[in-house]
Amino acid sequence: MTVGQVGRGGRALALLAAAALAGAAGCAREAGGSTPAQDDGGIVHVVCGATEEWCAATTAQFTRSTGVKADFVRLSSGEALARIKAGKNNPEFDVWYGGPADGFAAAGGEGLLEPYVSPNAAAIPARYKDPGGMWTGVYVGALGFCANTKVLAEKGVAAPASWADLLDPKLAKDISIAHPSTSGTAYTALWTQVVLGGGGAAGEDKAMQYMRKLHPNVLQYTKSGAAPAQMAARGEVAVGVIFSHDCVAAREGGFPDLAVSFPSEGTGYETGGVALVKGAQNPVSAKKYVDWALTTEAQEVGPTVKAYQFPTNPGAKVSDKVVDLSQIKLVEYDPVVAGKAKSALTKRFDIDVAQAPKS
Ligand code: F6P
Repeated sequence: MTVGQVGRGGRALALLAAAALAGAAGCAREAGGSTPAQDDGGIVHVVCGATEEWCAATTAQFTRSTGVKADFVRLSSGEALARIKAGKNNPEFDVWYGGPADGFAAAGGEGLLEPYVSPNAAAIPARYKDPGGMWTGVYVGALGFCANTKVLAEKGVAAPASWADLLDPKLAKDISIAHPSTSGTAYTALWTQVVLGGGGAAGEDKAMQYMRKLHPNVLQYTKSGAAPAQMAARGEVAVGVIFSHDCVAAREGGFPDLAVSFPSEGTGYETGGVALVKGAQNPVSAKKYVDWALTTEAQEVGPTVKAYQFPTNPGAKVSDKVVDLSQIKLVEYDPVVAGKAKSALTKRFDIDVAQAPKS
Protein backbone atom coordinates (compact mmCIF):
# COMPACT_ATOMS: atom_id res chain seq x y z
CA MET A 1 0.00 0.00 0.00
CA THR A 2 1.15 3.55 -0.57
CA VAL A 3 0.47 6.86 1.09
CA GLY A 4 -2.69 8.39 -0.27
CA GLN A 5 -4.72 5.19 -0.47
CA VAL A 6 -6.85 6.42 2.38
CA GLY A 7 -10.62 6.22 2.24
CA ARG A 8 -13.41 6.81 4.71
CA GLY A 9 -15.22 3.77 3.34
CA GLY A 10 -12.27 1.64 4.28
CA ARG A 11 -12.39 2.71 7.90
CA ALA A 12 -16.16 2.19 8.07
CA LEU A 13 -15.77 -1.29 6.66
CA ALA A 14 -12.99 -2.03 9.09
CA LEU A 15 -15.10 -0.93 12.02
CA LEU A 16 -17.98 -3.07 10.84
CA ALA A 17 -15.66 -6.02 10.42
CA ALA A 18 -14.15 -5.43 13.82
CA ALA A 19 -17.60 -5.23 15.38
CA ALA A 20 -18.57 -8.48 13.71
CA LEU A 21 -15.52 -10.08 15.23
CA ALA A 22 -16.05 -8.70 18.73
CA GLY A 23 -14.46 -10.95 21.25
CA ALA A 24 -13.07 -13.17 18.53
CA ALA A 25 -10.21 -12.70 16.12
CA GLY A 26 -8.51 -9.54 14.84
CA CYS A 27 -8.77 -8.58 11.20
CA ALA A 28 -6.78 -7.06 8.39
CA ARG A 29 -7.85 -3.57 7.43
CA GLU A 30 -7.74 -2.27 3.88
CA ALA A 31 -7.45 1.42 4.56
CA GLY A 32 -8.24 4.14 7.06
CA GLY A 33 -9.85 7.58 7.07
CA SER A 34 -12.21 9.30 9.48
CA THR A 35 -12.06 8.12 13.07
CA PRO A 36 -14.27 8.07 16.14
CA ALA A 37 -13.87 11.21 18.23
CA GLN A 38 -13.03 9.42 21.44
CA ASP A 39 -11.52 6.24 22.72
CA ASP A 40 -14.26 3.63 22.82
CA GLY A 41 -12.02 1.53 24.97
CA GLY A 42 -12.75 -1.40 22.77
CA ILE A 43 -10.76 -1.22 19.55
CA VAL A 44 -7.24 -0.58 18.44
CA HIS A 45 -5.98 0.16 14.91
CA VAL A 46 -2.49 -1.20 14.38
CA VAL A 47 0.00 -0.38 11.65
CA CYS A 48 1.97 -3.61 11.64
CA GLY A 49 5.47 -4.16 10.26
CA ALA A 50 5.81 -7.90 10.93
CA THR A 51 4.68 -10.51 8.41
CA GLU A 52 1.00 -10.49 7.41
CA GLU A 53 0.57 -13.88 9.15
CA TRP A 54 2.15 -12.67 12.37
CA CYS A 55 0.13 -9.43 12.34
CA ALA A 56 -3.07 -11.45 11.93
CA ALA A 57 -2.20 -14.04 14.58
CA THR A 58 -1.07 -11.40 17.05
CA THR A 59 -4.05 -9.09 16.73
CA ALA A 60 -6.36 -12.11 16.99
CA GLN A 61 -4.62 -13.37 20.12
CA PHE A 62 -4.70 -9.86 21.63
CA THR A 63 -8.46 -9.76 21.11
CA ARG A 64 -8.94 -13.22 22.62
CA SER A 65 -6.85 -12.31 25.66
CA THR A 66 -8.12 -8.82 26.38
CA GLY A 67 -11.55 -8.61 24.75
CA VAL A 68 -10.37 -5.49 22.91
CA LYS A 69 -10.96 -5.58 19.16
CA ALA A 70 -8.00 -5.02 16.88
CA ASP A 71 -7.40 -4.56 13.18
CA PHE A 72 -4.21 -3.95 11.25
CA VAL A 73 -2.65 -2.79 8.02
CA ARG A 74 0.68 -4.44 7.13
CA LEU A 75 3.20 -1.91 5.89
CA SER A 76 6.95 -1.91 5.49
CA SER A 77 8.86 0.41 7.80
CA GLY A 78 9.36 3.39 5.46
CA GLU A 79 5.77 3.17 4.25
CA ALA A 80 4.43 3.01 7.81
CA LEU A 81 6.42 6.08 8.76
CA ALA A 82 5.19 7.97 5.69
CA ARG A 83 1.60 6.97 6.35
CA ILE A 84 1.73 7.94 10.04
CA LYS A 85 3.20 11.27 8.96
CA ALA A 86 0.48 11.80 6.37
CA GLY A 87 -2.17 11.20 9.05
CA LYS A 88 -0.49 13.42 11.61
CA ASN A 89 -3.50 15.71 12.07
CA ASN A 90 -6.05 12.90 12.07
CA PRO A 91 -4.26 9.66 12.94
CA GLU A 92 -5.73 6.52 11.39
CA PHE A 93 -3.58 4.26 13.58
CA ASP A 94 -3.31 3.97 17.35
CA VAL A 95 -0.26 1.72 17.59
CA TRP A 96 2.78 0.94 15.46
CA TYR A 97 3.84 -2.67 16.03
CA GLY A 98 6.79 -4.43 14.37
CA GLY A 99 9.56 -3.19 12.16
CA PRO A 100 13.08 -2.09 13.09
CA ALA A 101 13.40 0.43 15.92
CA ASP A 102 15.32 2.93 13.80
CA GLY A 103 12.05 3.66 11.97
CA PHE A 104 10.41 4.31 15.35
CA ALA A 105 13.31 6.54 16.39
CA ALA A 106 12.90 8.50 13.15
CA ALA A 107 9.14 8.84 13.76
CA GLY A 108 9.75 9.89 17.37
CA GLY A 109 12.20 12.52 16.16
CA GLU A 110 9.46 13.93 13.94
CA GLY A 111 6.99 14.15 16.82
CA LEU A 112 4.80 11.36 15.47
CA LEU A 113 4.91 9.02 18.49
CA GLU A 114 3.71 9.36 22.07
CA PRO A 115 6.26 8.22 24.66
CA TYR A 116 4.85 5.51 26.91
CA VAL A 117 6.67 3.43 29.50
CA SER A 118 4.45 0.40 29.93
CA PRO A 119 4.54 -1.24 33.36
CA ASN A 120 5.42 -4.42 31.43
CA ALA A 121 8.50 -2.75 29.94
CA ALA A 122 10.28 -3.43 33.24
CA ALA A 123 10.71 -7.04 32.05
CA ILE A 124 12.45 -5.99 28.82
CA PRO A 125 16.25 -5.57 28.98
CA ALA A 126 17.44 -1.95 28.66
CA ARG A 127 19.26 -2.62 25.37
CA TYR A 128 15.91 -3.41 23.75
CA LYS A 129 14.01 -0.24 24.66
CA ASP A 130 14.20 3.51 24.31
CA PRO A 131 15.05 5.02 27.71
CA GLY A 132 12.43 7.74 27.22
CA GLY A 133 9.71 5.22 26.32
CA MET A 134 9.43 6.35 22.70
CA TRP A 135 9.41 2.65 21.67
CA THR A 136 9.89 -0.71 23.35
CA GLY A 137 11.41 -3.78 21.71
CA VAL A 138 9.30 -6.87 21.09
CA TYR A 139 11.74 -8.98 19.06
CA VAL A 140 15.27 -9.08 17.69
CA GLY A 141 16.43 -10.29 14.28
CA ALA A 142 19.80 -10.51 12.54
CA LEU A 143 20.46 -9.60 8.94
CA GLY A 144 21.90 -12.37 6.79
CA PHE A 145 22.18 -13.83 3.30
CA CYS A 146 19.55 -16.22 1.97
CA ALA A 147 21.12 -18.33 -0.77
CA ASN A 148 19.53 -20.75 -3.20
CA THR A 149 22.21 -23.44 -2.97
CA LYS A 150 21.06 -25.14 -6.17
CA VAL A 151 21.38 -21.94 -8.21
CA LEU A 152 24.77 -21.19 -6.65
CA ALA A 153 26.02 -24.72 -7.41
CA GLU A 154 24.99 -24.32 -11.06
CA LYS A 155 26.99 -21.09 -11.18
CA GLY A 156 29.96 -22.62 -9.35
CA VAL A 157 29.78 -19.94 -6.64
CA ALA A 158 30.04 -20.67 -2.92
CA ALA A 159 27.45 -19.32 -0.47
CA PRO A 160 28.42 -15.73 0.39
CA ALA A 161 30.34 -15.47 3.65
CA SER A 162 31.10 -11.75 3.59
CA TRP A 163 29.73 -8.45 2.33
CA ALA A 164 32.71 -8.46 -0.05
CA ASP A 165 31.53 -11.78 -1.52
CA LEU A 166 28.31 -10.11 -2.69
CA LEU A 167 30.36 -7.94 -5.05
CA ASP A 168 31.56 -10.98 -7.05
CA PRO A 169 30.87 -10.24 -10.76
CA LYS A 170 29.68 -13.86 -11.06
CA LEU A 171 26.63 -12.69 -9.08
CA ALA A 172 25.70 -10.01 -11.63
CA LYS A 173 21.91 -9.44 -11.47
CA ASP A 174 21.66 -12.41 -9.13
CA ILE A 175 21.00 -10.62 -5.82
CA SER A 176 17.81 -9.15 -4.44
CA ILE A 177 17.53 -6.70 -1.56
CA ALA A 178 14.70 -4.35 -0.63
CA HIS A 179 14.93 -0.59 -1.05
CA PRO A 180 15.89 1.33 2.12
CA SER A 181 13.31 4.07 1.51
CA THR A 182 10.48 1.57 1.87
CA SER A 183 12.01 -1.27 3.85
CA GLY A 184 13.39 -1.41 7.36
CA THR A 185 15.35 -4.53 6.44
CA ALA A 186 17.16 -2.72 3.66
CA TYR A 187 17.80 0.32 5.85
CA THR A 188 19.37 -2.05 8.39
CA ALA A 189 21.66 -3.30 5.60
CA LEU A 190 22.54 0.26 4.61
CA TRP A 191 23.22 1.37 8.19
CA THR A 192 25.33 -1.76 8.72
CA GLN A 193 27.60 -0.48 5.96
CA VAL A 194 27.77 2.93 7.66
CA VAL A 195 28.88 1.26 10.89
CA LEU A 196 31.38 -1.00 9.10
CA GLY A 197 32.70 2.15 7.40
CA GLY A 198 33.49 3.69 10.78
CA GLY A 199 30.28 5.72 11.24
CA GLY A 200 29.74 9.47 10.82
CA ALA A 201 29.89 11.28 7.49
CA ALA A 202 32.84 9.17 6.29
CA GLY A 203 30.95 6.00 7.14
CA GLU A 204 27.93 7.24 5.19
CA ASP A 205 30.14 7.94 2.16
CA LYS A 206 31.63 4.45 2.39
CA ALA A 207 28.19 2.91 2.69
CA MET A 208 27.08 4.66 -0.50
CA GLN A 209 30.23 3.50 -2.26
CA TYR A 210 29.51 -0.09 -1.23
CA MET A 211 25.89 0.11 -2.35
CA ARG A 212 26.93 1.55 -5.71
CA LYS A 213 29.36 -1.33 -6.16
CA LEU A 214 26.65 -3.81 -5.22
CA HIS A 215 24.16 -2.23 -7.62
CA PRO A 216 25.21 -4.13 -10.80
CA ASN A 217 24.59 -7.39 -8.94
CA VAL A 218 21.08 -6.39 -7.82
CA LEU A 219 18.32 -7.69 -10.06
CA GLN A 220 15.58 -5.94 -8.14
CA TYR A 221 15.09 -3.67 -5.13
CA THR A 222 11.84 -4.91 -3.62
CA LYS A 223 9.44 -2.85 -1.53
CA SER A 224 9.22 -5.22 1.40
CA GLY A 225 12.23 -6.60 3.22
CA ALA A 226 11.23 -10.27 3.17
CA ALA A 227 10.36 -10.42 -0.57
CA PRO A 228 13.91 -11.39 -1.67
CA ALA A 229 13.45 -14.70 0.19
CA GLN A 230 10.69 -15.61 -2.24
CA MET A 231 12.81 -14.57 -5.21
CA ALA A 232 15.70 -16.73 -3.99
CA ALA A 233 13.26 -19.58 -3.28
CA ARG A 234 11.98 -19.50 -6.87
CA GLY A 235 15.52 -19.30 -8.24
CA GLU A 236 14.97 -15.82 -9.73
CA VAL A 237 18.11 -14.73 -7.88
CA ALA A 238 20.90 -16.68 -6.22
CA VAL A 239 20.97 -14.61 -3.02
CA GLY A 240 18.57 -12.45 -1.03
CA VAL A 241 19.84 -10.00 1.58
CA ILE A 242 17.22 -10.22 4.32
CA PHE A 243 16.63 -10.86 8.00
CA SER A 244 17.75 -14.44 8.53
CA HIS A 245 14.44 -15.47 10.15
CA ASP A 246 12.63 -14.67 6.90
CA CYS A 247 14.90 -17.12 5.08
CA VAL A 248 14.24 -19.81 7.71
CA ALA A 249 10.50 -19.20 7.27
CA ALA A 250 10.76 -19.52 3.47
CA ARG A 251 12.78 -22.75 3.80
CA GLU A 252 10.15 -24.11 6.19
CA GLY A 253 7.52 -23.08 3.70
CA GLY A 254 8.78 -25.72 1.26
CA PHE A 255 12.05 -24.49 -0.23
CA PRO A 256 14.77 -26.74 1.23
CA ASP A 257 17.43 -25.38 -1.17
CA LEU A 258 17.57 -22.14 0.79
CA ALA A 259 20.47 -21.68 3.20
CA VAL A 260 21.32 -18.86 5.61
CA SER A 261 24.83 -17.44 5.97
CA PHE A 262 26.21 -14.41 7.81
CA PRO A 263 28.93 -11.94 6.80
CA SER A 264 32.30 -12.34 8.49
CA GLU A 265 32.81 -8.55 8.73
CA GLY A 266 29.79 -8.36 11.03
CA THR A 267 26.10 -7.95 10.43
CA GLY A 268 23.37 -5.57 11.51
CA TYR A 269 20.39 -6.47 13.60
CA GLU A 270 16.97 -5.04 14.34
CA THR A 271 15.05 -4.53 17.51
CA GLY A 272 11.44 -4.77 16.37
CA GLY A 273 9.47 -2.11 18.21
CA VAL A 274 6.03 -1.22 19.50
CA ALA A 275 4.89 2.35 20.18
CA LEU A 276 1.87 4.59 20.61
CA VAL A 277 0.99 6.91 17.74
CA LYS A 278 0.74 10.52 18.87
CA GLY A 279 -2.82 11.80 18.97
CA ALA A 280 -4.21 8.23 18.72
CA GLN A 281 -8.00 8.09 18.64
CA ASN A 282 -8.05 5.12 21.00
CA PRO A 283 -5.27 5.74 23.52
CA VAL A 284 -6.68 3.50 26.24
CA SER A 285 -6.90 0.45 23.97
CA ALA A 286 -3.57 1.39 22.42
CA LYS A 287 -1.85 1.24 25.79
CA LYS A 288 -3.48 -2.13 26.44
CA TYR A 289 -2.01 -3.34 23.16
CA VAL A 290 1.48 -2.11 24.01
CA ASP A 291 1.24 -3.65 27.50
CA TRP A 292 0.15 -6.98 26.03
CA ALA A 293 2.79 -6.97 23.26
CA LEU A 294 5.48 -7.10 25.94
CA THR A 295 4.09 -10.20 27.65
CA THR A 296 5.44 -13.71 27.18
CA GLU A 297 2.06 -14.74 25.77
CA ALA A 298 2.33 -12.19 22.95
CA GLN A 299 5.96 -12.98 22.25
CA GLU A 300 5.28 -16.69 21.89
CA VAL A 301 2.86 -16.14 19.00
CA GLY A 302 5.58 -15.67 16.33
CA PRO A 303 6.81 -19.27 15.97
CA THR A 304 3.22 -20.50 15.57
CA VAL A 305 3.19 -18.68 12.23
CA LYS A 306 6.83 -19.32 11.22
CA ALA A 307 8.13 -16.02 12.58
CA TYR A 308 11.43 -16.89 14.24
CA GLN A 309 12.67 -13.64 15.71
CA PHE A 310 14.24 -13.66 19.17
CA PRO A 311 11.76 -12.48 21.84
CA THR A 312 12.83 -9.52 24.00
CA ASN A 313 10.94 -10.75 27.06
CA PRO A 314 13.42 -13.10 28.78
CA GLY A 315 10.53 -15.21 30.07
CA ALA A 316 9.23 -16.08 26.58
CA LYS A 317 10.02 -19.54 25.19
CA VAL A 318 12.56 -19.43 22.36
CA SER A 319 11.95 -21.72 19.40
CA ASP A 320 14.91 -23.89 18.37
CA LYS A 321 14.53 -22.33 14.91
CA VAL A 322 15.59 -18.93 16.25
CA VAL A 323 19.17 -18.06 15.40
CA ASP A 324 21.61 -17.99 18.33
CA LEU A 325 22.65 -14.32 18.29
CA SER A 326 25.69 -15.05 20.43
CA GLN A 327 27.11 -17.14 17.56
CA ILE A 328 27.00 -14.30 15.02
CA LYS A 329 29.33 -11.35 14.71
CA LEU A 330 27.02 -8.34 15.16
CA VAL A 331 27.94 -4.72 14.53
CA GLU A 332 27.23 -2.01 17.12
CA TYR A 333 23.79 -1.01 15.90
CA ASP A 334 22.35 2.08 17.61
CA PRO A 335 18.76 2.52 16.38
CA VAL A 336 18.59 6.07 17.72
CA VAL A 337 21.62 7.23 15.71
CA ALA A 338 20.44 5.19 12.70
CA GLY A 339 16.95 6.69 13.03
CA LYS A 340 18.25 10.28 13.05
CA ALA A 341 20.14 9.65 9.82
CA LYS A 342 17.35 7.74 8.09
CA SER A 343 15.55 10.45 6.15
CA ALA A 344 18.66 12.06 4.66
CA LEU A 345 20.43 8.77 3.99
CA THR A 346 17.52 7.14 2.19
CA LYS A 347 17.05 10.26 0.04
CA ARG A 348 20.72 10.02 -0.84
CA PHE A 349 20.28 6.36 -1.77
CA ASP A 350 17.34 7.32 -4.04
CA ILE A 351 19.60 9.76 -5.90
CA ASP A 352 22.96 8.01 -5.81
CA VAL A 353 21.99 4.35 -6.18
CA ALA A 354 18.39 3.62 -7.21
CA GLN A 355 14.92 5.12 -7.09
CA ALA A 356 12.44 3.61 -4.62
CA PRO A 357 10.12 1.01 -6.21
CA LYS A 358 6.69 2.26 -7.23
CA SER A 359 3.65 0.43 -5.88
O1 F6P B 1 8.27 -9.74 9.77
C1 F6P B 1 9.41 -9.98 9.11
C2 F6P B 1 10.37 -8.83 9.22
O2 F6P B 1 11.62 -9.25 8.73
C3 F6P B 1 10.55 -8.25 10.62
O3 F6P B 1 11.43 -8.97 11.42
C4 F6P B 1 11.03 -6.88 10.30
O4 F6P B 1 10.89 -6.02 11.40
C5 F6P B 1 10.17 -6.50 9.15
O5 F6P B 1 9.92 -7.72 8.44
C6 F6P B 1 10.80 -5.50 8.23
O6 F6P B 1 10.00 -5.34 7.12
P1 F6P B 1 10.35 -4.32 5.96
O7 F6P B 1 11.78 -4.53 5.59
O8 F6P B 1 9.42 -4.68 4.88
O9 F6P B 1 10.15 -2.95 6.51
